[in-house]
Amino acid sequence: MSREAKSIRPPFAKPERILNMNDVIETILNHRSIRHFDDKPLTDEQIKTIVSCAQAAATSSFIQAYSIIGVRDPEKKKKLAELTGNQVYVEKNGHFFVFCADLYRHTLIGEKEEKDVSASLESTEKFMVALIDTSLAAQNAVIAAESMGLGICYIGGLRNNLGEVKKLLNIPDRVIPLFGLSVGYPAHITDKKPRLPYEHVYHVDEYEPNLERFYSQLEDYDQLIASYYETRTNGHRKDRWSEQMANMLSKQTRMYMKEFIQKNKLDLR
Ligand SMILES: Cc1cc2nc3c(=O)[nH]c(=O)nc-3n(C[C@H](O)[C@H](O)[C@H](O)COP(=O)(O)O)c2cc1C
Repeated sequence: MSREAKSIRPPFAKPERILNMNDVIETILNHRSIRHFDDKPLTDEQIKTIVSCAQAAATSSFIQAYSIIGVRDPEKKKKLAELTGNQVYVEKNGHFFVFCADLYRHTLIGEKEEKDVSASLESTEKFMVALIDTSLAAQNAVIAAESMGLGICYIGGLRNNLGEVKKLLNIPDRVIPLFGLSVGYPAHITDKKPRLPYEHVYHVDEYEPNLERFYSQLEDYDQLIASYYETRTNGHRKDRWSEQMANMLSKQTRMYMKEFIQKNKLDLR
């Protein structure tokens, strides 16, 4: 693993005053997305451990509404890289997983048990349950992988063209690929991206009503992010977080999604 003279404690990681430090917490706090991997595939044992950890996550009403597709076929990985907007690390990694919200197996169970489950499976609530279950499982997989010294990058670019992704991976109705996950041995370790102020995310007893404090803390955070980008890009980029968010959110993306999901017999009522 080449570390390219990057320290694992990057300059923008605020010294975290974590009292209950242990290996798990250290792994979690050390997260940063990795987009360059060594050319070394994960072993079957590593894959099994990662997927088993995903499966150990809590699951709403024990529904286990997800599937994970590991993509090994180099041609399929190449095609997926194209479909995600030519993200090289979708093709070049140690392993590529596709995390899918999955209510198809519950359709089959309804048929087997001779119960009409379709109205429930087509509800927004069950769709949300499947999204939540899949995301919890994925983040467990991420922590497992990172704890093994591997790097990861989630790939939401998979949703650029879900129809093609579904065809390529032979995915049935009521199964929606949500994101990919590139996993592998980091070839380059980037700086850790600073997160929002703690007080912006954690509220006590009520949603924080003090807008003055909100804007003042946001100003500090914007400066921190601007200097983070400036350092990371040798001055090419110095956008503030607010600016980045406003620019991103002023454009509509993937507006085909609702229709696509409903065509796949989910989120209809
Ligand atoms: C659901 C999800 C989808 C993402 N999709 C992509 C992607 O398609 N390409 C990419 O390079 N990074 C992707 N990311 C990574 C984010 O850009 C990254 O997590 C964020 O900028 C914070 O940086 P960090 O993970 O290094 O802390 C995704 C992250 C998540 C959680």
